[in-house]
Amino acid sequence: MKKILLAPSLLSADFSRLAEEIRDVEKAGCDLLHVDVMDGHFVPNLTIGPLVVKAIRKVTKMPLDVHLMIEEPVRFIAEFKKAGADWITIHVEAEKEVGKTLREIRNLGAKAGLSLRPKTPVQELYPFLDDLDLILVMSVEPGFAGQAFMPEAMEKVRLLRPLFSKLISVDGGVDPKTAPLALEAGADVLVAGSAIFGKKERGQAVAEFREIAKKFS
Ligand code: DX5
Ligand code: ZN
Repeated sequence: MKKILLAPSLLSADFSRLAEEIRDVEKAGCDLLHVDVMDGHFVPNLTIGPLVVKAIRKVTKMPLDVHLMIEEPVRFIAEFKKAGADWITIHVEAEKEVGKTLREIRNLGAKAGLSLRPKTPVQELYPFLDDLDLILVMSVEPGFAGQAFMPEAMEKVRLLRPLFSKLISVDGGVDPKTAPLALEAGADVLVAGSAIFGKKERGQAVAEFREIAKKFS
């Protein structure tokens, strides 16, 4: 039986109470904590860096799924690993030496992930499948939480599924209405910002996702 993993995206949490917020979703039964790192270049937004990752590492046992939306991520992967990142995902559009960077992530002892923008053809990932533990399919333009899910991105999941036996994650606009589209296409991980951290009752939000995931497990 396939286990569907739920990864709340920290971007929608209350940053004045991060520790409490993280404990809340952990108690609600989430599997991973998705951490969106943005540099103001690769995407038009700025978020957090290794310092905050190091701080949140202390308050949770959930693996930290760090999504680097930054140019030339190779410059920072060692720092993020040291800060406590378990999964490090880079963007195929952001790095010249994608394969080398992915191998470096693994050599550091982290799981290597690769993501792509909605407009990037899925074939750009094909040369790197052997160097990957996770593929993160973006279903919104990276940069902000709370955008509308792009169903056409699920075609990428459908194409990747027979080629890649490890984890496929869908990120952006995932909620109880759109989750079935991602799961039908073959996704294993649902990243959700607004639909988990954005809700008051996280336990209830997670239960709703679990109910949906049951049908695809
Ligand atoms: C967007 C980020 C997502 C985002 C998800 O650039 O990579 O992880 O925070 O938020 P929602 O679920 O609200 O689209
Ligand atoms: Zn993300």
